Amino acid sequence: MMPLSEILDLARWAPSGDNTQPWRFAIEADDRVAVYGYDTRAQCVYDLDGHPSQISIGALLETIALAATRFGLDAEITRRQGSPDQAPVFDVHFRQVAGISEDALVSQIRERRVHRRPLRLRRLSDQEKKALEAAVEPGFRLSWWEGWQRRGKFACLNFSNAKIRLTLPEAYSVHRNAIEWGARFSEDRVPDTALGASAPTLTLMRWAMASWGRITFLNQYLAGTIAPRVELDLLPGLACAAHCVLVAQSAPTKLADYVAAGRALQRFWLTATSLGLQFQPQYTPLVFARYARQGVRFTTSAQAIEQAQAIRATLDRLLGPDVAVRAVFMGRIGAGKPAEARSIRLPLERLMQLNAERAR
Ligand SMILES: Cc1cc2nc3c(=O)[nH]c(=O)nc-3n(C[C@H](O)[C@H](O)[C@H](O)COP(=O)(O)O)c2cc1C
Repeated sequence: MMPLSEILDLARWAPSGDNTQPWRFAIEADDRVAVYGYDTRAQCVYDLDGHPSQISIGALLETIALAATRFGLDAEITRRQGSPDQAPVFDVHFRQVAGISEDALVSQIRERRVHRRPLRLRRLSDQEKKALEAAVEPGFRLSWWEGWQRRGKFACLNFSNAKIRLTLPEAYSVHRNAIEWGARFSEDRVPDTALGASAPTLTLMRWAMASWGRITFLNQYLAGTIAPRVELDLLPGLACAAHCVLVAQSAPTKLADYVAAGRALQRFWLTATSLGLQFQPQYTPLVFARYARQGVRFTTSAQAIEQAQAIRATLDRLLGPDVAVRAVFMGRIGAGKPAEARSIRLPLERLMQLNAERAR
């Protein structure tokens, strides 16, 4: 018997936006697993055309392929014909292949986690950068933003971007559903202590998020976005070794391109973990820039639409417009101790619910 449950039990530690885990599993034969993906575009303003979910699914598929090597198995992954973009199904066929040994990244799968607090300023060595660059090849490269000035540019970009996040009516329910308050660990959300905010800021955020009325009051009269933006975006944006952008060779257009980006992201992140480096995705500027580029009215707030245009202009200026359209992921990186508070995962039985549903 192939150890398919063990492989899935490891793979479920793949990262996903807000820890949504947009996948369910079914063991369909002794050597075959089906991954039922889905996206959250209908309820999440950040899940633009489902791309972030597709990136997450890519990270999961990469993790399955890596985990398989622990058992000397090769994983052949194909998208099931006719499965729609909103609910893509992937068939994973495992084969025993002589000579396959455990990939060095497998031991990092459970260790990898987001770090949202300040990191050490020490520059990455050339060796570290080369290892990270090799992890995303072929098909992707990394654009590095090091030194105070260049890090500052991304810190400011994220500071401006966070104003959209914190004032966007459409993001309110997303944030409400994504945060588990008073928690160090969360199976299906992000625990508040992993957000990187100080205790007073967390208290303020928790109070404000109880109602949209409180948020608008705080934003209007008390400059309520300033404290969280300074603590969560500006300061950590400066306190790190670098910001880096994952750039595809050609602009992504279809689901397979985003899945490939997710696979590269996971290799990058696991490699960073193996080097003792911590990483925090800062993905939403890419979402707002794309809304602006495509002229999508993603909100009822005219101000947010204008701010998204400014984010797009800044990214175009920093990266160059031809690179900006190929940027598939970005975040901050640096040395530091792994975060203690973290998202954990739904137990495997919950992720296997399709089997149970079918058996009924
Ligand atoms: C597509 C994608 C987008 C993400 N965007 C962000 C982000 O903008 N900010 C952030 O702090 N974390 C972001 N994350 C990290 C997730 O919140 C994190 O992976 C998830 O909560 C699970 O936690 P863990 O990675 O610590 O196990 C993103 C992850 C993925 C895969």
